[in-house]
Amino acid sequence: MPAAGPFPLGMAEAVDRLFVHCRQLVTLTDGPARGARRGEAMALLGVIDDGAVAVRAGRIVAVGPTDRITREYYAADEIDLSGFVVLPGFVDCHTHPVFAKTREHEFHQRCAGADYMAIAAAGGGILSSMRAVREASLEQLAARTEEHLWGFLAHGTTSIEAKSGYGLSLADEQKSLTALQQAQANVPLTVKRTFLGAHEFPPEYRQDREAYVRLLVEEMIPRLAPLADSCDVFAEPGVFDTSQSRRVLEAARAAGLRLRMHADEIQPMGGAELAVQLGAASADHLGRISDAGIQALASSDTVGVLLPGTILFLAKPHYAPARRMIDAGCAVAIATDFNPGSCYTQSMTLIMTIACSQMKMRAAEVITAATINPAFSLQLDDEVGTLHPGKRADLCVLDMPSWEAVGYSFGGNPVVMTVKHGEPVVTNVCERAPRG
Ligand code: NIG
Ligand code: FE
Repeated sequence: MPAAGPFPLGMAEAVDRLFVHCRQLVTLTDGPARGARRGEAMALLGVIDDGAVAVRAGRIVAVGPTDRITREYYAADEIDLSGFVVLPGFVDCHTHPVFAKTREHEFHQRCAGADYMAIAAAGGGILSSMRAVREASLEQLAARTEEHLWGFLAHGTTSIEAKSGYGLSLADEQKSLTALQQAQANVPLTVKRTFLGAHEFPPEYRQDREAYVRLLVEEMIPRLAPLADSCDVFAEPGVFDTSQSRRVLEAARAAGLRLRMHADEIQPMGGAELAVQLGAASADHLGRISDAGIQALASSDTVGVLLPGTILFLAKPHYAPARRMIDAGCAVAIATDFNPGSCYTQSMTLIMTIACSQMKMRAAEVITAATINPAFSLQLDDEVGTLHPGKRADLCVLDMPSWEAVGYSFGGNPVVMTVKHGEPVVTNVCERAPRG
């Protein structure tokens, strides 16, 4: 029974927790609860000044102005978020967190003039992460992965897509997906697992690439499909060509996996067109997407996942043409691409800054691209991505003067609290007086 509140018993409905006095609560409830948002619909935020969220059993019961919500709902537990901007928890739909060692030396080699693909061709890059994963025990890899998963929560991300892809053998990809499964059991983060055995050709198959494609199609995909939701492939000249990518993805679809694709990242290859043809859930990177690729995406449910942090970190010139894609009607998401080689950040707010300043996205667009659109690409839009009643109470609490300060505020971590299923799971600021 709830204790008697400051209102007559019977007037207010009991809930488990109220989050009150958010300076601005960005609900995204001006648009539909489900589905990807395109074009002008990317601006349908639904901002409530002095907003509140009522939560029961980890789900949103109601959102609205604090004075109304506190009249209609009562909870013994009330969290005052005065002075903070509150968004749906971020959904990071492209990450590579199952690795054992960092690769900072490669970053500085690149800064000194070396090229990313040249480092890879010389046995560094993905193969250097492969060696570290193969050397690690399952326990070691699960422990490292678990640390990485907590890092997403610390940056306001409450759901991710996470890829294997640094094992590159049946045993080591199995170890990677199992490590991920074990790690996610210990962390309050929603994780969708993706098999990325087609990330690179391992040394034992460098001279016979066809044999590795056969291994993927005939053994690895059928055996590992039960451990994953989706399958991805690094389609890139010099890595998996169009026909190899198609064979891998068709085998994955036959094994019941959904499809994602590293497409048109460094060299144009018709990757977006192939992703649409195969009915992939996403085509990712797209720095070199063609006009035909933009048209194909726009008339499909394949989400274009843009990873501008990678372009910045690799110092490449080709950001994805986000403006043209949005204006053409593509469903656009942004993600970190967190990995030890080409983008070592877990900060969606940093990615928002790069998306605004380098790809000319607008503040409302980057919010939509970091919440409901990536949720749709992961079939999580029933559960997260907006603050419609009935969805999970996943929140990201930001120390920002207004919601328009997304993008503008950069270089620090503005996330002061992350809420997962109604529970504060990360608080980054202690003993700070609430600000009016
Ligand atoms: O998305 N492009 C391929 N995969 C990752 C990089 C992986 C790595 O360098 O370790 C990416 O950028
Ligand atoms: Fe990637």
